[in-house]
Amino acid sequence: MAAGCGNSDNQSIFDTKGPVASTELYTTMITLWVSVGIFVVVGSALVFALVRFRAPADLGPETPLPSQSHGNAALEAVLTLVSICLLVIIAWPTIPAIFKLDAMPTAEEKPVIIEAKGWQWWWEFTYLNTKKKVYVGNEMHIPVGRKILLRLESSDVIHSFWVPKLGGKTDVIPNQHNQMWLLADQKGVYYGQCAEYCGTSHANMRFKVVAGDADDFEKWIMHQDSAAVDPPAGSLAARGKEIFIKGPKEGQACSSCHMIKGTPAAGIVGPNLTHVGSRLNLASGILDNNDHDLKMWLHDPGAVKPGNHMATMAMPPLHLSDDEVNALAAYLEMLK
Ligand code: CUA
Repeated sequence: MAAGCGNSDNQSIFDTKGPVASTELYTTMITLWVSVGIFVVVGSALVFALVRFRAPADLGPETPLPSQSHGNAALEAVLTLVSICLLVIIAWPTIPAIFKLDAMPTAEEKPVIIEAKGWQWWWEFTYLNTKKKVYVGNEMHIPVGRKILLRLESSDVIHSFWVPKLGGKTDVIPNQHNQMWLLADQKGVYYGQCAEYCGTSHANMRFKVVAGDADDFEKWIMHQDSAAVDPPAGSLAARGKEIFIKGPKEGQACSSCHMIKGTPAAGIVGPNLTHVGSRLNLASGILDNNDHDLKMWLHDPGAVKPGNHMATMAMPPLHLSDDEVNALAAYLEMLK
C-alpha cells in the first residue's frame, strides 16, 4: 500500500503533469481527508465504547445495562446534519470538476485530435487534424500546453485508456465513441497503461506519451509521414526486407499484418513499423528498443507477450532461424 503512494513512480497519480490529472488529484485528496476524519472519529468512539462499557467479569443477571441513547432526537439530528455537511464538502469541488473535465475542447482551442484505438494488446494512434494524417503504434507524441482531444475506439474487446500523470481512465468500448481530453504542461515521457482486463496480455498493453514543444511535434509528424529508408542492395538488411515482405515461409509474410510506408508492406492489423527503429520501446512498451530485445521478440513473441497474435493467429508459428532473425533485426533497426 505504501509503495503505491510513491511520487517518483512512473505511473503515480500523485505526481501530476497536467490540469486534468491535477484536478482529479485535488478532488481525490478532499475525499481522502474527509474519509480519514470520519475514520478517526468513528474509530475513536468505537475504541472508547469498547473500553469504557466493557462488561464486568462477574456479570450476573441483575447487572443493569448502561444508559441507552436510542431515540435521542437531538443526537440523531446532529449526526444527520454532520453527514450532510461532509457530503457538501466533497460535492462542492467535485461537481465543478466533473463539468470541467467533461467539456471537450472547442475548435477555437485548436486541440490536436487523435484517435486512440485499442487492440489486443497494443495501441494505435491516428492523428486526425495534423498537417499530415499519420498513424503510429504504441507511442503518442503531443505538443506541450495544447489540449489533446482523444477519440477512443476499440477493434476488439473493452480496454481502458490511462496515462496516470496526465489524467484518469476512460473505457475504450467497441462500437461506442468515447472521448476524453488531456494536456501536458511540461515536457516529458509519460507512461500509459490499459486499465481494463482485456485478455491474457492485458498487463503488457502499455504505451508511452512523449510531450515536446510545438516544433518537435511538427517535425515528428512530418517524419512519421515520410517513407521508410531503403537498405543498400546486397546488405543483411536488404535480405531482412525481403523476408519481411515475402515471409520466411509461404503464408507468413510480416507485410500481411504490418505496414512499412514506401514498401509493398501495407498490412493494417498490426502496428505500423515504418519508423519502428526510432521508437522508445518495442511490443507496446514492454521491451526496450535495442538489438537484444528485438531479437528476443523475433525468436519467440509468444514468450515475451503471451497470447499475442504473432504467436497465435491462424498462421503457422514463425520459428525463425538465427539467420532470419539477424536479417530482420538489421532491417527493422535501420527504420529510424
Ligand atoms: Cu487492453 Cu487491458
